[in-house]
Amino acid sequence: MCGIVGAVSNQNIVPILVQGLARLEYRGYDSCGVAVYANGLKRARSTARVSELMAQIATTHLQGTTGIAHTRWATHGAPAVHNAHPHFSHGPGADASSRPGRIALVHNGIIENHDELRASLQAKGYLFQSQTDTEVICHLVDSLYDGDLFEAVKAALGSLRGAYAIAVFCKDEPHRLIGARVGSPLILGVGPDSQSHYLASDAMALAGVTDQIVYLEEGDVADIQLGKYWLVDKAFKPLTAAQRPVKTVHAHSGAAELGPYRHYMQKEIFEQPRAIADTLEGVTSIQPELFDGADASAARVFKDIDSVLILACGTSYYSGCTAKYWLESIAKIPTQVEVASEYRYRDSVPNPRTLVVTITQSGETADTLAALRHAQSLGMTHTLTICNVATSAMVRECELAYITRAGVEIGVASTKAFTAQLAGLFLLTLALAQSRGMLSDTEEARHIKAMRHLPAALQAVLALEPQVIAWAEDFAAKENALFLGRGMHYPIALEGALKLKEISYIHAEAYPAGELKHGPLALVTSAMPVVTVAPHDALLEKLKSNMHEVRARGGVLYVLADADSKIESAEGLHVIRMPEHYGELSPMLHVVPLQLLAYHTACARGTDVDKPRNLAKSVTVE
Ligand code: F6R
Repeated sequence: MCGIVGAVSNQNIVPILVQGLARLEYRGYDSCGVAVYANGLKRARSTARVSELMAQIATTHLQGTTGIAHTRWATHGAPAVHNAHPHFSHGPGADASSRPGRIALVHNGIIENHDELRASLQAKGYLFQSQTDTEVICHLVDSLYDGDLFEAVKAALGSLRGAYAIAVFCKDEPHRLIGARVGSPLILGVGPDSQSHYLASDAMALAGVTDQIVYLEEGDVADIQLGKYWLVDKAFKPLTAAQRPVKTVHAHSGAAELGPYRHYMQKEIFEQPRAIADTLEGVTSIQPELFDGADASAARVFKDIDSVLILACGTSYYSGCTAKYWLESIAKIPTQVEVASEYRYRDSVPNPRTLVVTITQSGETADTLAALRHAQSLGMTHTLTICNVATSAMVRECELAYITRAGVEIGVASTKAFTAQLAGLFLLTLALAQSRGMLSDTEEARHIKAMRHLPAALQAVLALEPQVIAWAEDFAAKENALFLGRGMHYPIALEGALKLKEISYIHAEAYPAGELKHGPLALVTSAMPVVTVAPHDALLEKLKSNMHEVRARGGVLYVLADADSKIESAEGLHVIRMPEHYGELSPMLHVVPLQLLAYHTACARGTDVDKPRNLAKSVTVE
């Protein structure tokens, strides 16, 4: 998704801006650009990779001490150079080229009332060069500018509806940069010399430049100048350093190293034993305190709830679907799981005794944040997040939190963050079970032992990679695939299908196996591979009947079975035997071969595995 970097310094900041963009590349983008003040506004833009932008800059010798840069993920207007940010204001006047721009601006988010603003600016004589909603903000600031950029931006914000993080500068005040945010993240970085200041959509963009970070909150506006900065809140009231403290944030630029792996996704799949070990580090017993928030006690909250509502998107939603099985069977607590983008807009019946649990890798997903706020507005104040980014908006806005320690996830397709979420959700299940008197000491000890062994169990599953590669060779030639699971492995089938479709572009669907004969069986032919997650659990015999239904129609089965599932390979039946049956935690192991299957199938088809088409890493727009 879009990324922003901005800087005011007494040195040439172009290398910092462009390296910042390179660090944000993992979020997904389709064009990029940089603009600086150099006796006027100068810029370079590209619809290729950041490396191409760097080559352009090297040729044109673009340099400056104030500037902004952007990676764009198209929402309004196709990926094209004229739509790439930064945008410059032109006019008002009939001929844009005769009126050199004075405002340069980059924007993440979506301006909902851009049509009406565009019409009113056009009526004033502004000429539009792009189809973007962003250009509207640029001209709007220009139309309100009267020698003070801070005042012009503040005035413009009052007319904007939607979500935004912006960074803007003006050629008439060349050592000043203004940033503002509503609904999209923005941070301010203080340089080691205290002279240079930065803006970015993500601390990762400033890794290696500064670790001194101020997190802007909803509605904040930043006025950045050489050696100083000011912040105001949404009512434009000045903020003190205590209200927006500078925090030391270790954003690991080292996470960007690929090491021996071909892609980040492969690296991240193989990092799962470490990610789970880190996420569970120090957990030797089940304590509600594991979930305490900055100002709230989980023990108190857990006593005050009678149900759970999980809100999330995509892969994170599937981890919530898995957790529902755990929460209802182990903690015996009624649990509902909803796709965040649906929940936020539907009429629902709020229960103030519900624990609202959001699950999000990034902590910045616009739909999940909006769903949380919607639940809060309905009077559901008990909120908890399972999140991979401790400094994210989600962690700040939830009462309680469990921070997973998967580490930075670069591949757009989520892998290690998913299993780390499951680890956090299993702990939450046990903590709620304990609080409700449903967890004996013996059971607690058994579960902790199983969790401690997870890294080793995951390692054993990763060793199956060569067998999965053999499957992937078959899948690479297919255009459709069906995934089946039952019980808590049904969400794992859903996740396997999502992984395959998003990176290999093979159409894949997942069904609870019992649903097969209610419709999807009509699709089954010898051209349709059917992946079946078949652990040796209470539903295995039922699942075997479903597998017979597939084979009887000539379908080819690819089965993940446990050692004692008693399913043998045969004509049209391929079996990978998982190392051990892992009881309640089995979904965490069974998802791994499905991640590898998607990965190797995508490699065989030659797709851009880490940056699949049309997708972005952190979905900060609705
Ligand atoms: C799929 C994937 C997405 C994310 C979804 C939510 O591989 O990564 O479906 O899971 O966009 O993102 P977060 O977890 O950051 O809220």
